[in-house]
Amino acid sequence: MINDSLPIHLQIEPCQICNLNCLACSIRNVHKGKDRCVLSKEEFEVLLTHAPSVKDISLHGLGEPFYNNDLSKIAILLNKKGIVAKTVTNGNVVNPNIDNKVMLENMKEICFSIDGDNKNTYETIRRGGDFDKFKEVVSSFSETRAKSNPKTCLLSFNCVISEKNIEYVSGLPELAKELGIDKLKFNIMGQFFYSKSDSNYKMVEEIRCHDESSFLLLMKMLRNECDKLGIEMSYPPIEEKKYFDCFWPIRAAFVTAEGYVTPCNYRMNPEVINFGNLLTQTLDEIWFSKEYLIFRDSFKKSKYYDFCLTCS
Ligand SMILES: C[S@@+](CC[C@H](N)C(=O)[O-])C[C@H]1O[C@@H](n2cnc3c(N)ncnc32)[C@H](O)[C@@H]1O
Ligand code: SF4
Ligand code: SF4
Repeated sequence: MINDSLPIHLQIEPCQICNLNCLACSIRNVHKGKDRCVLSKEEFEVLLTHAPSVKDISLHGLGEPFYNNDLSKIAILLNKKGIVAKTVTNGNVVNPNIDNKVMLENMKEICFSIDGDNKNTYETIRRGGDFDKFKEVVSSFSETRAKSNPKTCLLSFNCVISEKNIEYVSGLPELAKELGIDKLKFNIMGQFFYSKSDSNYKMVEEIRCHDESSFLLLMKMLRNECDKLGIEMSYPPIEEKKYFDCFWPIRAAFVTAEGYVTPCNYRMNPEVINFGNLLTQTLDEIWFSKEYLIFRDSFKKSKYYDFCLTCS
């Protein structure tokens, strides 16, 4: 059921710079050949002023959040305003301008992306990443957190399952335990590329996990292992995409580091579609713009945009 009340959740892209070029990530298409933006704390303040209804923010997009020198200042700002914030990082960046203790004190969750339980698998998928450095970065967060009580910030792993790693993730519960991680989140590789003629689209279709029973069997085994080690675990239902279930047009929106508002974290290219700019317009103006109303209407009428039909 689509309603038109203002969204309470935004995913805001703090930084478009990245040191990795992961196999299934559309960063190489979306930010190709353009200057990559980084949101300053001052710009972030403007975004928040323009979106007073928002209570929950995910601080990540196409790029590595820890290249944003203002990240810990932004975390403080969000906490002061009572906004629940989380971020996702590739765990391969140590930025002297970011205070990890401040991040831990002000964020609800810091999630580290890990797509394999060993160096070879990890570095094959997370191209340009260094598994040993990743482990050091994760440990430095959990050690800093261990010194500061109480344990308010959840530390998690996100693992995107595909044919490339389905046989190389069984060691993740053990690794999570060793590195002080509280929760292991498994996700299924989605289609970040929207055009069927794009070779990246075809490559992702080839390596996406199509075998439901192997996936569920693996999840069952991993859940047993996580239970034994006292680690939380989650995974999504594996089923055909039901467009009418998509929560984005109902209660969330994506904001690029330039301020453009786009439909979701699958379709983040403002050149393909955007509904306005949150640095210069209010969320109210954007959410009720003619273009956004027509987009939400496409869900009410089950006449989905082409880029929705290729998202899965
Ligand atoms: C786009 S990244 C941005 C944050 C940071 N650069 C990182 O990699 O953690 C956010 C998350 O999206 C995941 N991701 C990338 N491509 C994906 C895909 N095709 N399907 C599902 N998740 C994907 C990454 O593994 C990561 O956990
Ligand atoms: S998934 Fe994250 S680390 Fe990998 S290329 Fe995309 S933005 Fe960079
Ligand atoms: S592309 Fe469309 S259907 Fe897919 S997640 Fe985004 S808004 Fe939902």
